[in-house]
Amino acid sequence: EKGGYPDFMLKEIHEQPRVVRDTLVGRMTPAGELDIDELGLSLEELNDIDRVYVIACGTSYHAGLIAKNLIEGWARIPTEVEAASEFRYRNPIITPTTLVVAVSQSGETADTLAAIRDARIKGAKVFGITNVVGSPVARESDGVIYTKANKEIAVASTKSFIGQVVSLTLLALLLAQVKYRLTTKQARMLFRELSDTAEQIQWILDTQTEAVHEAALLCKDAQSALFVGRGMGAAISYEGALKLKEVSYLHAEAYAAGEMKHGPIALIDPGFPVIAVATKSATYDKTVSNLMECKARGAKVIVVATEGDEEINKIADCIIRVPAVRDVFSPITASVPLQLLAREVAILRGCDVDQPRNLAKSVTVE
Ligand code: F6R
Repeated sequence: EKGGYPDFMLKEIHEQPRVVRDTLVGRMTPAGELDIDELGLSLEELNDIDRVYVIACGTSYHAGLIAKNLIEGWARIPTEVEAASEFRYRNPIITPTTLVVAVSQSGETADTLAAIRDARIKGAKVFGITNVVGSPVARESDGVIYTKANKEIAVASTKSFIGQVVSLTLLALLLAQVKYRLTTKQARMLFRELSDTAEQIQWILDTQTEAVHEAALLCKDAQSALFVGRGMGAAISYEGALKLKEVSYLHAEAYAAGEMKHGPIALIDPGFPVIAVATKSATYDKTVSNLMECKARGAKVIVVATEGDEEINKIADCIIRVPAVRDVFSPITASVPLQLLAREVAILRGCDVDQPRNLAKSVTVE
């Protein structure tokens, strides 16, 4: 059942190239139009959207952080990301031109479902992104994109996260196209690059095992670890820290790298692991200078870095490589080393990676 893998978590991490491919199948017409026919919203309704809330919990919430960057960047629609358990108990600004995007692997998370119901009563259009066909989130939304992760057995989400990010990228591309902010030619090019991430994930899986193991050795006896990055790298860091906490019980926190000197740098003492997502992007140099400050205080610096970036060799104690991709697609590739790292640390610490203590696969009570 585990297909030759020692645990479901590793099996599911290795399924991710297929998840990317399956989630994208049939999504672009030969004419270069995004095809999301399950949307449940007319082109006029889509064009009228002037505010987006992404609501979700846990890992799905982190997929939402990535979506915010994409929707605001491409479609220029103001986008908020909120934990469903917060959204439902406050009084968010909802009008008929508000789109609420609910992201839930299981499609049955109690808070997410309650938030959907509330948003619909207040008049929002609700769009669901879920992995489970016919789940409550799918049934109670105006439209739905199904992630094609297939059943996820390990409690910690990996492949469903990648399916969510790919689906949210499609939604952002569609909104950009509807808002005439993207030409057909641009949409085609971006779609092709998005599809290429399947191969790029495969490359990471095929080549980075040893680097991940080395990084895990630097973390395994630590009391705590810090994940840092900027922009997409920050969003990836939040997810990396959650994954590590969940499966290895090693305390971890994530910060936008620019926030380090406002507090968390006080944590750094010799041997403290800092895990950075420092792929090539507009803020690469800024992240590197934050890492130098950590290094100067004795931190063990583990970096997820772009293939071919030699500059990073000077400060990193350990480097896990990812292929060069456009920054907007970096979450799809750069999340994978952090999933592998979390699992490897957990294995070294003797944890059950598929069934972490105190956690349930779906959270149907509040
Ligand atoms: C983390 C994890 C959880 C879920 C969260 C939301 O690995 O699996 O944080 O992401 O409980 O679950 P869904 O997506 O089913 O609503």
